Amino acid sequence: SQRVFSGVQPTGNLHLGNYLGAIKRFVELQDRFECIYCVVDLHAITVWQDPVELKKSIREVAAAFLAAGVDGDRHIVFNQSQVSVHAELAWVLNCVARLGWLNRMTQFKEKAGKDRENASVGLYVYPDLMAADILAYRATHVPVGEDQKQHLELARDIAQKFNNDFSQSIATNGFEEKFFPLPEPLIAGPATRVMSLRDGSKKMSKSEPSDASRINLTDDADQIANKIRRAKTDPFPLPETVEALKARPEADNLVGIYAALADTDAAGVLDAHGGAQFSQFKQALVDLTVEKLAPITAEMKRLVADPAHIDATLAKGAERAETIARETMNAVKDIVGFVRR
Ligand code: TYM
Repeated sequence: SQRVFSGVQPTGNLHLGNYLGAIKRFVELQDRFECIYCVVDLHAITVWQDPVELKKSIREVAAAFLAAGVDGDRHIVFNQSQVSVHAELAWVLNCVARLGWLNRMTQFKEKAGKDRENASVGLYVYPDLMAADILAYRATHVPVGEDQKQHLELARDIAQKFNNDFSQSIATNGFEEKFFPLPEPLIAGPATRVMSLRDGSKKMSKSEPSDASRINLTDDADQIANKIRRAKTDPFPLPETVEALKARPEADNLVGIYAALADTDAAGVLDAHGGAQFSQFKQALVDLTVEKLAPITAEMKRLVADPAHIDATLAKGAERAETIARETMNAVKDIVGFVRR
């Protein structure tokens, strides 16, 4: 069977990149797959989080899922810390993954920065926890933005090594040879890497100090308009061809955003707007962005105003997630050779 799993960190400032690269795609996959969407709070604390803000952010990410159109009744929405299997399985996978594999993770190097000695150990083994998230549900497909590609490759390597290291025990215990399916990344569409509005060489990010660099899912129409109007561009009109976009990162980014919001591709956008001045194109982009985001922002606001309802949704989701994950964990215990109750 085909199962989707993905996660978003509750670290504040959910932005248009998170929406177009991930959450919007979560919604689109619901008719074709059984889907499990997780607010990854265990991942969030790999960097210190203010406890009051963390709680708020967890509910806000859950609200964003639901407001964007994820169906929490047909599918599963929950927060990671409510299902202890994530942490349990991550420990086993810590013992499968090799030090050399983690040493190659570029996101750790970026996030740890120069003061690596002072980074949390959790930040270092973060990709093992991410592998545990996916493998606990034996998910087959994982929709993410481009920046998670390397982590997905690591999850596949870990799954494969587990299957190999324990192949005999997997057979003895009566499981199929590929106990963990190798999860396939779903990285597609025109907005797999949305860039900063202020710098076409940096990705749009929750942690960038300049708020003008991103469109937050909580921004109102005026803020969206101001940020898009101030977005960095080059002095030329929009090109006529996709080829010509490649050398123009800022134009490429705005066209990609437009394409994703309009459910088309860059060629489709250039058919309509090629040759336009940026002032004109930006106005069209403002209108489209506000049209698409305003209902989501409003619904998020409505949902977070009633935390009890969100908490109930998360609790119900966690219960259903737990059932699936616990079955995997019991099998892993048998395979590894633990004695269990
Ligand atoms: P996170 O919380 O940084 O981002 C959530 C999702 O948004 C995507 N994304 C972007 N897509 C396009 N353009 C951007 N500028 C942009 N910025 C972020 C991310 O690729 C991601 O899909 N490690 C993950 C969370 C995670 C996870 C998992 C994902 C934990 N366990 C298991 C999949 C499966 C993360 O930090 O995402």
